[in-house]
Amino acid sequence: MEKVINWVDARFPLTASFKAHLSEYYAPKNFNFWYYFGSLALLVLVIQIVTGIFLAMHYKPDGALAFASVEYIMRDVPFGWLIRYAHSTGASAFFIVVYLHMFRGLLYGSFRQPRELIWIFGMLIYLMLMAEAFMGYLLPWGQMSFWGAQVIINLFAAVPYIGNDLSTLIRGDFVVGDATLNRFFALHIVALPLVLIGLIAAHVVALHEVGSNNPDGVEIKKNKDPVTHHPVDGIPFHPYYTVKDILGVVVFLIAFSAILFFAPDMGGYFLEANNFIPADPLKTPPHIAPVWYFTPYYAILRAIPPMFGSQFPGVAAMGIAVMIFFALPWLDKSPVKSIRYRGPKFKIALGLFVIAFIGLGWLGIQPVTPLFTLLSQIFTAVYFAFFVLMPWYTKNDTHKTEPERVTDK
Ligand code: HEM
Repeated sequence: MEKVINWVDARFPLTASFKAHLSEYYAPKNFNFWYYFGSLALLVLVIQIVTGIFLAMHYKPDGALAFASVEYIMRDVPFGWLIRYAHSTGASAFFIVVYLHMFRGLLYGSFRQPRELIWIFGMLIYLMLMAEAFMGYLLPWGQMSFWGAQVIINLFAAVPYIGNDLSTLIRGDFVVGDATLNRFFALHIVALPLVLIGLIAAHVVALHEVGSNNPDGVEIKKNKDPVTHHPVDGIPFHPYYTVKDILGVVVFLIAFSAILFFAPDMGGYFLEANNFIPADPLKTPPHIAPVWYFTPYYAILRAIPPMFGSQFPGVAAMGIAVMIFFALPWLDKSPVKSIRYRGPKFKIALGLFVIAFIGLGWLGIQPVTPLFTLLSQIFTAVYFAFFVLMPWYTKNDTHKTEPERVTDK
């Protein structure tokens, strides 16, 4: 074995890369709960790719066959139900994990200098993930697949000048149909996963270039041991964090299996009841709502009233609500990174933002009533205020002095 490895090492940096990026990657010794979600996102990625490959072996991307092929997978293919539910549960799990992963970034200022590019790659991953989930949802060709796609693609038509052409380009036809299903299939199983994997690789390489942040927001690279040249507050990834991450994986898989085996549709949140009815272009379901991970943005869309008969303001607000995360590294003016050393203004702002985000998520699945619309408008204002006012409240906040070394309880 050693001979084989030496042979490869003389021709390819196998051991060197393994050491640099895994076994001997020095990470801060104070990682906590919030640091589980990066490795869990990688795990979910693998689950999605593996189950996706097996689904593609029996799925038929054809308007006349798609729905039945999914039922065939569920009923006749050995363990097809397991593969399908693992993939549909995996989609929601991806967003749960990624939202918690992003929230960690907000808690500890991980998006700030020198990690702006990690954040930008992360945001591009998030955009790709949204596109991937949206396109995947069309494939079972149920009522919600069809009408959800219809509603969302029509939104693009609200873009001035190019809107109609843009929505026709996405659809591949004047109505959602076979052409839409075929192109979404191609993008969902080939193009977007390739881009996603490339972006994730770039995300991790960028992280390993500057090193991980930590719950104290202290840069461990500033304090290196003169003899070993390793950060004094760092520990090698293996065995310390491999063991920690395995614990995360075990707990995650228990929760994941519980959902998969006992509540795969999660009361309609992970798979909607209407999607077990074949797509019918002549019958609009009475209540169309996207899957839970899109509902905060859907609520923002519905909160903004049309102007001059155009839905564009709502569509623009929804787009900006996603894109504004890109600006975070330049909006935050606090002298400290971690929430542990920030003052009350930031803590209140972040608390209100979380309430607004969850509130919007809930409102996005409720029917439209005057009260809910008003609430959505208030939460939308809070959502945007978090970003727009950030330069002001982070600059004028009090803060505690960041310690020289990481604190380890
Ligand atoms: C498929 C999705 C993703 C995967 C597989 C992934 C993977 C990872 C991994 C393995 C780490 C290192 C371990 C950790 O810090 O937890 C990491 C760190 C990080 N990720 Fe992601 N990530 C994903 C999405 C995102 C998104 C959407 C964002 C934000 C928009 C983001 C922002 C960050 C940041 C800022 C760090 C550095 C955190 C720190 O050092 O404190 N990631 N990511």
